[in-house]
Amino acid sequence: MRILVTGGAGFIGSEYVRRRWDSDPEARITVLDKLTYSGVEANLASVARQPGYTFVHGDICDPDVVDQVMAGQDAVVHFAAESHVDRSIDGADRFVRTNVMGTQVLLDAARRHRVGRFVHVSTDEVYGSIAEGSWTEERPLAPNSPYSASKAGSDLLALAHHRTHGLDVVVTRCTNNYGPYQFPEKVIPLFITRLLDGGTVPLYGDGRNMRDWLHVSDHCRAIDLVLHDGRAGEIYHIGGGTELTNHKLTALLLDAVGADWDRVAHVADRKGHDLRYSLDDSKIREELGYAPQVPFTEGLAATVAWYRAHRAWWEPLTERAALR
Ligand SMILES: NC(=O)c1ccc[n+]([C@@H]2O[C@H](COP(=O)([O-])OP(=O)(O)OC[C@H]3O[C@@H](n4cnc5c(N)ncnc54)[C@H](O)[C@@H]3O)[C@@H](O)[C@H]2O)c1
Repeated sequence: MRILVTGGAGFIGSEYVRRRWDSDPEARITVLDKLTYSGVEANLASVARQPGYTFVHGDICDPDVVDQVMAGQDAVVHFAAESHVDRSIDGADRFVRTNVMGTQVLLDAARRHRVGRFVHVSTDEVYGSIAEGSWTEERPLAPNSPYSASKAGSDLLALAHHRTHGLDVVVTRCTNNYGPYQFPEKVIPLFITRLLDGGTVPLYGDGRNMRDWLHVSDHCRAIDLVLHDGRAGEIYHIGGGTELTNHKLTALLLDAVGADWDRVAHVADRKGHDLRYSLDDSKIREELGYAPQVPFTEGLAATVAWYRAHRAWWEPLTERAALR
């Protein structure tokens, strides 16, 4: 299968690409990535010599580049995005440009080139916040941050291209991911790297915000199920099953590196901070047989061990992470 993977040098996209040839030795993957601050080409070093792998340094908002890379593809798996909520609060322009306009450019090209399937990778954050219970795929969107609003816009555009033009689009919405190669601005790698460096970690507000955690390899397995067997025009939730307050997560990370609560700095809450996200993922479990395989305690321990062992990967990125 010939697949265009956008954002393949990022955290989740690179996991997806690195594992491609395990299940399909004949895979032909083209990565299109702008290498923004969070894109790291070295994340793909292990597949750089793989026959069938091509890397294109380019912007999904550039119609000429997108047209060239789209030609001859069987499918698109679209990860490329501005992905950090805090940055979207500082300034939303890049989020609208890449997440909305860039998705539009890709959808147009996919339609022109009659691409067989377009998997649009999205997030639980498009629903806003839920105090109790879980959202199903029918829940109306009510995003609260500029990041989630731009993702919601791109989801709706993708689904509109299915309804209006018959493009074979499937949308996935996933909970919070963790694992190796995550850029050290997101909470888990930020906390691990700061603790390993002997510094303090910033805990927002009272720490009672809740997130549902999923190992990145489980997310990528679910995307593959959707790519091959998902129904066109449908949305599939991908849940983690490990719900934790940020306070509890902080306690686990402190414990994992042998640090105390005196390393935690309580900082003002994030503006508009959603209290809780929660997905009902029974549809993908029942229709496609999805189930997460990595238990959170094992996955978190392996992630801490990975950051301990890969200082050379993250040290140069911590400066980039601090720049806004
Ligand atoms: N991280 C999570 O917990 C999570 C959860 C659910 C959904 N998602 C979604 O998964 C996708 C990937 O997230 P991630 O955490 O890997 O993000 P990331 O920031 O690690 O990676 C994003 C990648 O996209 C590339 N990119 C950005 N703008 C681009 C552009 N204009 N053209 C081409 N490439 C561009 C970057 O260089 C980078 O390689 C996003 O769409 C995000 O919304 C993430």
